[in-house]
Amino acid sequence: MAKQIMSSSYLLFFSLALLIITLSTIPNFASASLEEANALLKWKASLEIPKNSLLSSWISLALNSSASVPCTSWFGVVCNSDGSIQKLNLTSSGLNGTLHRFPFSLLQNLMHFDLSVNNFFGPIPPEIHLLSKLVYLDFSENTFSGVIPPEIGNMHQLTILYLHSNNISGPIPIELGNFKSLTDFKVNNNQISGSIPSSLGNLTSLNVLSLYGNHLSGLIPIELGNLKSLTNLDVSDNQLSGSVPSSLGDLTSLNILNLFQNQLSGPIPTELGNLMSLTHLVVCKNQFNGSIPSSLVNLSNLQWLILSFNKLSGPILSEIGKLKYLTHLSLRTNHLSGFIPSSFGDLTSLNQLYMHENELVGPIPSELGKLKSLTDFKVNNNKISGSIPPEFGNLTQLQRLDLSSNNLVGEIPKEFGKMKSMLDLSLAGNRLSGVIPLELGFCELLEVLDLSKNRLNGSIPTSIGQWAQIHYLNLSNNMLSEKIPSEIGKLVHLTELDLSHNFLMKEIPSEVQSLQSLQKLNLSHNRLSGSIPDVFTNLPRGIDINLSYNELSGIVPLSTNFVNASIGSNPDLCGNITGVKLCPSQIMKKKNDPYHHKLILVIMLSLIGAVLLGVFMYGFIAYQHQKKNSPQKPSDEESGDYFSIISFDGAVVYDDILEATNNFDEAYSIGTGGYGTVYKAELQPNNVVAVKKLHSGSENVDHNGFLNEVRALTNIRHRNIVKLYGYCSHVRHSFLIYEYLENGSLGSILRSDVLSKELDWFKRVNIVKGVANGLAYMHHDCSPPIIHRDISIANILLDSKCEAHISDFGTSKLLKLDSSNWTAIAGTYGYIAPELAFTMVVNEKCDVYSFGVVALEVIMGKHPGDLITSLPTLASDYLVPENVEDSRIPPPSSQVEKQVWLVLSLARACLNSNPLERPTMQQVSNRLMKDLF
Ligand SMILES: *[C@@H]1O[C@H](CO)[C@@H](O)[C@H](O)[C@H]1NC(C)=O
Ligand SMILES: *[C@@H]1O[C@H](CO)[C@@H](O)[C@H](O)[C@H]1NC(C)=O
Ligand SMILES: *[C@@H]1O[C@H](CO)[C@@H](O)[C@H](O)[C@H]1NC(C)=O
Ligand SMILES: *[C@@H]1O[C@H](CO)[C@@H](O)[C@H](O)[C@H]1NC(C)=O
Ligand SMILES: *[C@@H]1O[C@H](CO)[C@@H](O)[C@H](O)[C@H]1NC(C)=O
Ligand SMILES: *[C@@H]1O[C@H](CO)[C@@H](O)[C@H](O)[C@H]1NC(C)=O
Repeated sequence: MAKQIMSSSYLLFFSLALLIITLSTIPNFASASLEEANALLKWKASLEIPKNSLLSSWISLALNSSASVPCTSWFGVVCNSDGSIQKLNLTSSGLNGTLHRFPFSLLQNLMHFDLSVNNFFGPIPPEIHLLSKLVYLDFSENTFSGVIPPEIGNMHQLTILYLHSNNISGPIPIELGNFKSLTDFKVNNNQISGSIPSSLGNLTSLNVLSLYGNHLSGLIPIELGNLKSLTNLDVSDNQLSGSVPSSLGDLTSLNILNLFQNQLSGPIPTELGNLMSLTHLVVCKNQFNGSIPSSLVNLSNLQWLILSFNKLSGPILSEIGKLKYLTHLSLRTNHLSGFIPSSFGDLTSLNQLYMHENELVGPIPSELGKLKSLTDFKVNNNKISGSIPPEFGNLTQLQRLDLSSNNLVGEIPKEFGKMKSMLDLSLAGNRLSGVIPLELGFCELLEVLDLSKNRLNGSIPTSIGQWAQIHYLNLSNNMLSEKIPSEIGKLVHLTELDLSHNFLMKEIPSEVQSLQSLQKLNLSHNRLSGSIPDVFTNLPRGIDINLSYNELSGIVPLSTNFVNASIGSNPDLCGNITGVKLCPSQIMKKKNDPYHHKLILVIMLSLIGAVLLGVFMYGFIAYQHQKKNSPQKPSDEESGDYFSIISFDGAVVYDDILEATNNFDEAYSIGTGGYGTVYKAELQPNNVVAVKKLHSGSENVDHNGFLNEVRALTNIRHRNIVKLYGYCSHVRHSFLIYEYLENGSLGSILRSDVLSKELDWFKRVNIVKGVANGLAYMHHDCSPPIIHRDISIANILLDSKCEAHISDFGTSKLLKLDSSNWTAIAGTYGYIAPELAFTMVVNEKCDVYSFGVVALEVIMGKHPGDLITSLPTLASDYLVPENVEDSRIPPPSSQVEKQVWLVLSLARACLNSNPLERPTMQQVSNRLMKDLF
């Protein structure tokens, strides 16, 4: 007992002592700090501050007598132990104003001053040098103007100086050379002029020197070679001239050297071969001449070697093939000659290989078929000869291949059919012969194909019908013969079709009427005969048509499209059109034609009806309820029938689906969405579809409008959008039939710790790209644009290769959910753009916001939650992979890391609370796809 009392009194004594010690160390707030705080309040009063700003914590000291308040509760303020302000951090606070009333003379102890990412404007006052203890100064991303005050040179302690992305003009003051401790100096993206002062060579601690995007002129000073600690030197996008000083070869710590877009001339200095740490060497768009220095092959860590747009001559060094980490190699637009080295086949990390617009000769080495990672290969506009190596078929990642304007001979290898990723293929302007291989039809993603100006013969293969994405097709100036295949009508996205200057024969197929996106059609200089199909009147208005120099006969159909068409030099054609002779019976015809046309129309419709009826017979016979009398058209209007629309291979019918799902048994359900339950239905062994059974009553009342919408949606084909095959309706059930995707929803994968490990960074970035592409397509390439309104990870499905496909596109629109209830049904909480809380105006920018959430979620592996709302207050460098990346998988390699960064910065832009400031999906998609050099 006594012992216990003893110990508690000890404890009491001890606590008292502690209290006394604590009290004595509470800062003694001098009147100076009160003065500082009052002065800051005056400055605050001069600013425009957004509502709900955290700056509201800067309350007047009259309201609180405690002098410690600025140090303890003011947002962005940190004091030293004397209660004097040491740190002022107001980054990303939406502030608008100037520094005119900033109390420079009072804040003697300020060491850290950050106003970045606000709307500050006006000059940086020379009094800034009074902040003599300043170590860190960040004014970046504002609209400061005027010059950099030379007085800044007196701030001897500065280590970080960020003035980038403002409107600052005038020269870089010589006085900046005084900063012995400066490690980072960024003044890029301003209007800085004059030359780079040689005094910068005194900044021996400098790591980063970022001067790009200004109007700097004159020479690069030799003294920069003294900056032994420099890791990043970027002077790109200026007007620097003269030759590059060889002293830059002394910058042995350098990782990045960027001289892009200046007027630098002379040879590339041999000494650059000493920069052993270099990963990026970018010198494109200058006037460099001479040959590629052989010393560059020592730069064994290089990932980017960009020498394009110069005047380099001589051969391409075969030793470049030893730079095994290269991902981007561009030698385009120079005067390089000689052969393409076969050693390039060893550059197995290469994504982009550009050698176009040079004077290269000799064959394309078959070794290039080993470049497994290659996505872009261009060697057009050279003097390459020989034939195209069949090994190219092994380049299954290749998306863009341009071999045009060379002297290639031989046939197009049938192995091209293996290049399944191909989007853009040009072999134009060579001497290729033989037929267009049937296998080319297997490149189903093709968007652009140019085989013009060759000697191709034979017929146009019917396999062209598989190019569902193609929008530009040019087969002109060849020796193609026979008729134009009717499969041409399947290329519904074509905007330009050029088959001119061939030997094509027979009638123009009436299927051309399906080409509803067409803007330009050139069939001139062929041997086409028969009459111009009447369906030409169905082509889009304003289309540019050239049918001249053929053997067409009969009457030109009455259509405004023919008023300006080139149609002359068809001896047997007549009509009231310039360049064509008037028909003898023009006036008579005017009376007879309407009847005549109508008759043909009725016969045609009956025929079409009969054919379609035959196709759907199986379905119709199974159910005899229907009361169709006239076989004019498969009628959409008769609601309650089994089949309404199906763009499918025919045999899919209501009872097939009922059977395949065991009458919509729970066991076949693969998920539930806002509109209904989704089932997997295996109709035949290799024919699996997803069937979405709509909640009863969710189908809209305007049946015809609904069917038109479905029809429009079934016509959409894009590799990042789940294909809608059709729609089926019955008194008991209505359902939509979709493409089935093996890997299920992105949501189910991200939620699973096991499955999410399979999604590496490369796949994740690719998923974000895919979603961006799909949305960009719907917003910008569909007319009218289609808004999804419910983008979330639950609506993004993955195929076996983890490529993203957006599902439920247009469903919300289809079901005409009126504005009062759509947020309840269509939007998913956590993905809805904030403006929808007070306005019901749904536009593309709502999808952009939801996309931002999804992009962030893919990187983080979980929903970003509150992070989204706090984004505006977070520093611009908070959203980096280290802070947010999904820790269930290893951090990104340096190869993908940049892309992860890019995704994060785009996500941030998309999550801007102001819809007007969000980028468009087109911009996002372009940014993700951009091929820089
Ligand atoms: C003054 O501020 C301090 C610290 O924030 C607080 O504890 C105190 O209640 C305030 N006093 C008044 C009168 O508002
Ligand atoms: C900032 O304030 C100025 C002057 O009050 C005004 O002209 C300008 O539009 C504002 N800028 C922004 C971005 O709000
Ligand atoms: C800084 O550089 C300039 C020009 O290169 C030189 O004249 C000057 O002596 C240097 N100053 C210091 C302090 O080293
Ligand atoms: C590449 O293509 C050639 C010819 O098409 C073929 O013989 C060879 O096996 C392929 N090589 C690889 C590694 O796929
Ligand atoms: C030909 O077209 C012009 C302009 O559309 C019209 O004025 C003229 O009457 C037409 N001639 C005949 C013979 O139809
Ligand atoms: C500045 O403030 C932002 C948030 O307002 C914070 O994220 C950042 O870490 C701060 N910077 C420093 C160096 O304290």
